[in-house]
Amino acid sequence: MSRFFDLISDIHLDFWVKVDSNLRKMEKKIDLFVDSLVPTSPSNVLVIAGDLGHYNNQNVIMLRSLMRYYESIVMVRGNHDLYLVSGKQSKKYKWLSENRWREMKDFVNQLPGLFVLEGDTITLEGITFGGTGMWYDFSYGIIEHGKTREELDQIWSKEIRDRKFIKKQPDFAQEEIRFDRIIDESDVIVTHVGGDWSQLLLNARYVKGDSIPSFYFFDGSRWADRLSGKAWCFGHVHDHYDYMRNGCRFINNAKGYPRDNPGAKIKTVMI
Ligand SMILES: [Fe+2]
Repeated sequence: MSRFFDLISDIHLDFWVKVDSNLRKMEKKIDLFVDSLVPTSPSNVLVIAGDLGHYNNQNVIMLRSLMRYYESIVMVRGNHDLYLVSGKQSKKYKWLSENRWREMKDFVNQLPGLFVLEGDTITLEGITFGGTGMWYDFSYGIIEHGKTREELDQIWSKEIRDRKFIKKQPDFAQEEIRFDRIIDESDVIVTHVGGDWSQLLLNARYVKGDSIPSFYFFDGSRWADRLSGKAWCFGHVHDHYDYMRNGCRFINNAKGYPRDNPGAKIKTVMI
């Protein structure tokens, strides 16, 4: 029997709706934005594969707005959900990104139907979803370009804003443990950072020799023999994918910044 869920990632809400001290006005704008994202016949479950936006209070309004359409929302954290983008935010969260994420989780845990996956699984509508935000491990540049970690670290520091805006980076080893824990049980794996870059260069946006994708993926090949029959939803790169590899279906349905996929909506996935 076919089962359905809806998918989106990388909404980056504050790029679509400006933060406004007039709450009523902002709520209305967010409702309209959400209305533009939701398909005509939404499924009961929505998966958000990370990167809600930079402001928890604004993201909360969006999640409430989405709950007008969905019975359940399952989400993982993205790198931007850890950003402290201003001095004011840094002070509020005591210069620790995990404090911002903890605040978000506290909110999510209060609302019935909202679930954050962080190395755990949940079964909804007969589908077991398992996930964690994951992180990147520089392996793209190491494997594809033979670069050293130190070389890639330099590029990362110079080119990638995660370095500046995330106070205390996530621990890749801990994320790996969480990821490993959920695989076998899950029908649908959800991570923000993807574990397969095999289709990357098919997209004209990326050129061979560019090491920047080292900060977009991790090397998921070592789990390849455990993925058969599953779907793996990911985001982080603002590209759309839906392909099979090692018997696993890889799906990305990023909204992205206004310049990326302006018309992108929530996608219904049938498994
Ligand atoms: Fe991201």
